[in-house]
Amino acid sequence: MNQTDAFVMGQHLPKFGNLQVISYLVTTHHDFTRHIMEEISELIYLARREMVNPPEELSELSAMWQQYHQGMLEHLREEEEILFPWIERQGQAAEAGAVVDDQIKHMLVEHKHHEESMERVKMLADQLSEKGGYIPVLARLAYKLKQLNTDLKEHMEIETGLLFPRMQGKS
Ligand SMILES: [Fe+2]
Ligand SMILES: [Fe+2]
Repeated sequence: MNQTDAFVMGQHLPKFGNLQVISYLVTTHHDFTRHIMEEISELIYLARREMVNPPEELSELSAMWQQYHQGMLEHLREEEEILFPWIERQGQAAEAGAVVDDQIKHMLVEHKHHEESMERVKMLADQLSEKGGYIPVLARLAYKLKQLNTDLKEHMEIETGLLFPRMQGKS
């Protein structure tokens, strides 16, 4: 799926069935998130190696990043390997609705935690742009962090606002 297709599809998501919404989430947002988090890890490493006097926000970001990165990878994996296959099999599934419901609640709690971390990441990205926007590695790092946040916001809105309420019979 190219970017234009993804954009056009994003606009029409509410009209699509669950299988298409899931395929959209995985092939656009999940892939994008994994890829950009790798780039951010690399940029943090480069910035720390290259800079003699890095801003304190770089140390703060570096201290939280590994946990954030691993937690997000685990969240994506749980959706792809546990929740989404359940949703795909819905109707013929032996799993009780309550099990799916519990898993959705668990994902929603994680979304809340992600939102909190994203606030922090946004503040750090803004500070890095302000203090080091003229240093290429920091400018790129801040830019990637902002892209990650923008994409995650859209990603979580589709899950929290469209897909999960459907599964919980709320829409
Ligand atoms: Fe997701
Ligand atoms: Fe999610």
